[in-house]
Amino acid sequence: MASPTGTQRAVRWYPPAYDIRVETVPVPQIIDPDDAIVKIKLAGLCGSDLHIYRGHEDVDGDLTCGHELIGEVVALGSSFHPNAVGRPELYSTLRVGDKVVSPFTVSCGECHFCRIGFTCRCIHSCLFGIPTLPGGQAQYARIPKAGGTLFSLSALSAASLASGKPGIADVAESSLLLLADILPTGVFAALQVLQHPKISPLLARTAYPFSSFVPNGTVSDAVSAPLQREDRILTIAVVGLGPVGVCATVSLLDMLSTLEANDNMEFRVLAVDPNESRRSKMEAVYAAIDAKDRGSGPLIVTDIQEGKSIANDWTNGAGCNAVLEVVGNNSALTLAYDLVRPFGLISSVGVHQEPPMPFTGREVYNKNVSFDFGRCPVRAMFPIALGILLKRQDVFGSIGEKASLIEKIVSFDEAASVYEQFDKGQCGKVLFDPWL
Ligand SMILES: NC(=O)c1ccc[n+]([C@@H]2O[C@H](COP(=O)([O-])OP(=O)(O)OC[C@H]3O[C@@H](n4cnc5c(N)ncnc54)[C@H](O)[C@@H]3O)[C@@H](O)[C@H]2O)c1
Ligand SMILES: [Zn+2]
Ligand SMILES: [Zn+2]
Repeated sequence: MASPTGTQRAVRWYPPAYDIRVETVPVPQIIDPDDAIVKIKLAGLCGSDLHIYRGHEDVDGDLTCGHELIGEVVALGSSFHPNAVGRPELYSTLRVGDKVVSPFTVSCGECHFCRIGFTCRCIHSCLFGIPTLPGGQAQYARIPKAGGTLFSLSALSAASLASGKPGIADVAESSLLLLADILPTGVFAALQVLQHPKISPLLARTAYPFSSFVPNGTVSDAVSAPLQREDRILTIAVVGLGPVGVCATVSLLDMLSTLEANDNMEFRVLAVDPNESRRSKMEAVYAAIDAKDRGSGPLIVTDIQEGKSIANDWTNGAGCNAVLEVVGNNSALTLAYDLVRPFGLISSVGVHQEPPMPFTGREVYNKNVSFDFGRCPVRAMFPIALGILLKRQDVFGSIGEKASLIEKIVSFDEAASVYEQFDKGQCGKVLFDPWL
């Protein structure tokens, strides 16, 4: 198939802020041998688009928006051929016509950071939807380092059909869009907590520091009694219940229910958002999850004030073991700091801006608090996110129902209006069909 040429429709943002236009722009072309051109089937509107939309990102040029896309390969650069040995597999296997999902940033699959799993910090990392890399809210997109960046949905689908096990072939196509960003990001926010050394005493039932690596020759006779039940109750808050916060809560419950079933782990979850409609969505999602998949620990959905008092009551004033911050502003960081207990941790996936963080050195010192911030390594999270996507089609598979994460699919004609609604928290997750 010849590479498409001519023009396409795209959602474009203009500085300084709140200016969304739908324009006709050139169809992107292969400019590097590692590129692929993807015809976009669905594109997402994400909370991260809002930081640019609001003018908070210090971007001074206009751009094609969006960084979440699924679609079909329509052109491949010359690096893609059957003998592309020693390179990521897709350089030798990807074909024109294959369905793909693109993580929201470029990753080569070949550098140290990609090899070790920290794919969001690839030396070639680049976010889609910035002035130098047009985004996914268009009819076509150019994918740099495509053999490392893309996932082939066609290959995953063929593998699940061949194995006879439920797989990607069985899920709603719209739900696959969530693998580009927000579901892996939710998984990342939760996993950063459950893999953290400050949580390991509860999981290993052993007091710190013997819950994790200790040097050879350590004299450890003093450490013996396993942790008591009351010291093993894991109390976690999720701050922010937008689409990413819901993905984080669903992922967290999946992991906690596994820990409960396998290790008798007790847990309590607090899900906090000041926006009433976001709280209702979270409650509906929670109600839709099968009881065995959400464990028997309580989950309370609450506003900020009540959230603080519940955390206090649950823990006799100690605070939460961990807080997932899924908002991206200083009010949320302040709340996370207030909710977390000494020797707790804050797993922050909110995208933060220039203002200094709202804690002093003394406050950080006084709580021995750990912070894990930053961009999700989507490629590394992908297998876990895919497992949760397959299991949770009750939440991710439907559109526009009470418990659906995806609220609606709209045409680009509605772009300016849905950006405004999403910015004001008046709607949930919106996808664009660029061909409507
Ligand atoms: N780290 C990553 O890789 C990554 C990936 C995707 C999205 N994100 C970020 O995740 C964040 C959430 O994205 P989203 O799509 O859910 O956006 P969103 O804007 O829909 O959700 C944010 C939610 O936070 C709530 N909120 C605001 N202030 C609060 C406070 N003080 N306490 C509690 N809740 C508060 C809002 O009411 C809203 O429901 C954004 O910052 C986005 O940029 C990060
Ligand atoms: Zn996003
Ligand atoms: Zn890399």
